[in-house]
Amino acid sequence: MNADREFTKLWNHATVDPQNLIIEVGRISQMDRVQRAKMYELFNRVGVVIMQHAPVSEDDPVEELIDLGKMYGKSVAHDRADARGLVVVAEIPGKGASIAPTLMHTAGTFTPWKDVPKTVLLQCVKQSPVGGQSMIASGALAYQYLREKEPEALKLLSNPEVFSLKRADPGKGQPGNTGAVRKAVFDHDQLGDGRIWLSFRFDGEVKLDLFPDEAHEAYDKLFCFMNRSENQIDFKLQPNQIMICDNTAVGHARTAYQVGSGRKLNRLQLHGGIGDCIFGFPVPEAFSKLRAA
Ligand SMILES: [Fe+2]
Repeated sequence: MNADREFTKLWNHATVDPQNLIIEVGRISQMDRVQRAKMYELFNRVGVVIMQHAPVSEDDPVEELIDLGKMYGKSVAHDRADARGLVVVAEIPGKGASIAPTLMHTAGTFTPWKDVPKTVLLQCVKQSPVGGQSMIASGALAYQYLREKEPEALKLLSNPEVFSLKRADPGKGQPGNTGAVRKAVFDHDQLGDGRIWLSFRFDGEVKLDLFPDEAHEAYDKLFCFMNRSENQIDFKLQPNQIMICDNTAVGHARTAYQVGSGRKLNRLQLHGGIGDCIFGFPVPEAFSKLRAA
């Protein structure tokens, strides 16, 4: 099998039905070989999987998440994480900003390559009745769009020094000992095998530095493309579901949610150094068709 042709992660909302990304299992620790193979196949072909595990105690479904994390490598350091790498994502009382919408981005854009999580797991404990919808967008789709419509922008965004980010509010969720690191939005060097690694973020919390000046327009084009609903799939994670995201190939975002809803999720960010995963995406061939899932 030619991995490059098979695992393009090239899709949009018309070709991917989120229902087809759900894999129903019992306990995560008791997944069989077929379920594991299906999980890695979806991860490598689409870059997003939703694991639906058997209902477990509402107080502590985290064991399922920890067990799933073991299949995606060691956890990445994070100052809000506990010893297992777990971060609780919930409304912070008095901090209205925590419920504002999150724009499309990849995780770990601030950090050196070796500390960027390749896989992000998000487990729903309690959902907000209104809002809290997840959106996912394909980096390969954005790459193909730019190559066809905005080749100069793509060239600028592939420059290994095109951007760096700093937190506007230092210390909040920032891993220690990291400064602003210059990166390409579409990196061609880190993964090898010609596969591309997507990194980008822009919102009110970051200080974005772009080089050269023309890259501002290019970054804006990518950002608008990724944030357009027709280029995303969306779904609302439910209790007993864990979303698996290939953070090297897809961006994620969410809608606003209700104040006082008690929405709670658990997150694990992992190095992803396990053999069955194929990260990033290949340069889409000119005739590449969108894949169905
Ligand atoms: Fe995120």
